[in-house]
Amino acid sequence: MKDQKIQVALLGLGTVGAGVYKVLESQKKEMLPKLGTEVELKKILVRNLQKAAAKVNDPSVLTDDWQEIITDGEIDIVIEVMGGMEPARTYILEALNAGKNVITANKDLIAVDGKSLMDAAKSAGKDFFFEASVAGGIPIIRPLKQSLEANHISEIVGIVNGTTNFILTKMTEENMEFADALKLAQDLGYAEADPTADVEGLDAARKLAILASIAFHSRVSFEDVYAEGISRITSRDIQYADEMGCRIKLLAVARNTEDGIEVNVHPMLINRRHPLASVNDSFNAVFVKGDAVGETMFYGRGAGELPTASAIVGDLFDTVKNIRYQCTGHVNCTCYKTLPIKKAGDKVSRYYIRLQVEDRLGVLAAVASVLGNNNVSIEQCIQKHKAGDLAEIVVITETVLERNFNDSLQILKTMSMIKEVSAVTRVY
Ligand code: NAP
Ligand code: HSE
Repeated sequence: MKDQKIQVALLGLGTVGAGVYKVLESQKKEMLPKLGTEVELKKILVRNLQKAAAKVNDPSVLTDDWQEIITDGEIDIVIEVMGGMEPARTYILEALNAGKNVITANKDLIAVDGKSLMDAAKSAGKDFFFEASVAGGIPIIRPLKQSLEANHISEIVGIVNGTTNFILTKMTEENMEFADALKLAQDLGYAEADPTADVEGLDAARKLAILASIAFHSRVSFEDVYAEGISRITSRDIQYADEMGCRIKLLAVARNTEDGIEVNVHPMLINRRHPLASVNDSFNAVFVKGDAVGETMFYGRGAGELPTASAIVGDLFDTVKNIRYQCTGHVNCTCYKTLPIKKAGDKVSRYYIRLQVEDRLGVLAAVASVLGNNNVSIEQCIQKHKAGDLAEIVVITETVLERNFNDSLQILKTMSMIKEVSAVTRVY
């Protein structure tokens, strides 16, 4: 057993890095009784020493030179919270190759390049942990890899992006339109100045790729995930959803089916009685279905300096124990299968469509006939609103093949009696 003090380097001192620093400070007195050894944050890599000095008690821990960390044989653990692809990828690989354990929150990197990083950790016999990369402070990666390992997981459904959940909550509860809710999210610091990754579903797609790979034991990459964002959702659709007993949420859905893995991120109507429907504001939740455990849900803060730091420091403490008991590297990549990823047209879904049509006899029958001729059965249909000579029709379909639905949609768009297809959203 290794009893000497364990030394750590932190790469990046932004939102999450500062959170890790604070949590380590608050845990200082607990470490020896919890872990049986002292843990020292020996170096922090920053770009601007002057800017960073105000964030730490002792500025002598700061460096802007990666070589000072990678060549320091006493540093056992590197925590990467700089974000982005490079130089994060190179530093992680160099650290593993130099015999250091690595902890990261970098979903962008893992969702694209997770395999090569995990292979490098395996060859080095070192820990490579990334609990904070999905749903911030919510424990989900370790539960999937360990606590739920006895299950065949059939489905994961998550609200894994806090910014879009905040926007949709404001649109639902305060009748805000998308642009106003986004502006509010930016003013409150939830959404970034360039909100594309959150709003277009890309951030959620990266997280879903990581979750699906672990849950189904088969590598799923960011490029495999179909991603659609929330920018086309209107408060009108949210109101219709409400009348039908539903909420609209940006859901990240991964299914392990007999014909392959389905991985989709898109806005969906979900029944208000489903536990995910009441996950509001910037909260995240991940709903997991396993054959032995049944349904479970993990809920909490998906981002923010302290929640994210909670997950990172949890990984750190695990690694410290593994170093002490000389068993680092025992939690490896869990992708021991190669399952196909289902193509878009082969997937099935229920759909909500909202159409502006001529207000005259026979239009509803014509719409129903196009859908029926393409094997798209209707579950609900309502005609609600009239503006001038137009009527508004809302249709909810049964579960149908995506290919059949798209074929019928193309025909509806060419019909002169249909003035506009105003909304198409899937139904969970
Ligand atoms: P951030 O606030 O932008 O912080 C990143 C920090 O890293 C910045 O201070 C930046 O320095 C520094 N940095 C970047 N490149 C560097 C380099 N080459 N050398 C030294 N320092 C460098 O980002 P964050 O929100 O903390 O996110 C960090 C990571 O955590 C990302 O991978 C993110 O996806 C992940 N994450 C974040 C959250 C969250 O709530 N924020 C939640 C889960 C996961 P400058 O200040 O000079 O730019
Ligand atoms: N931008 C993310 C969100 C947080 O809004 O949930 C970082 O993963």
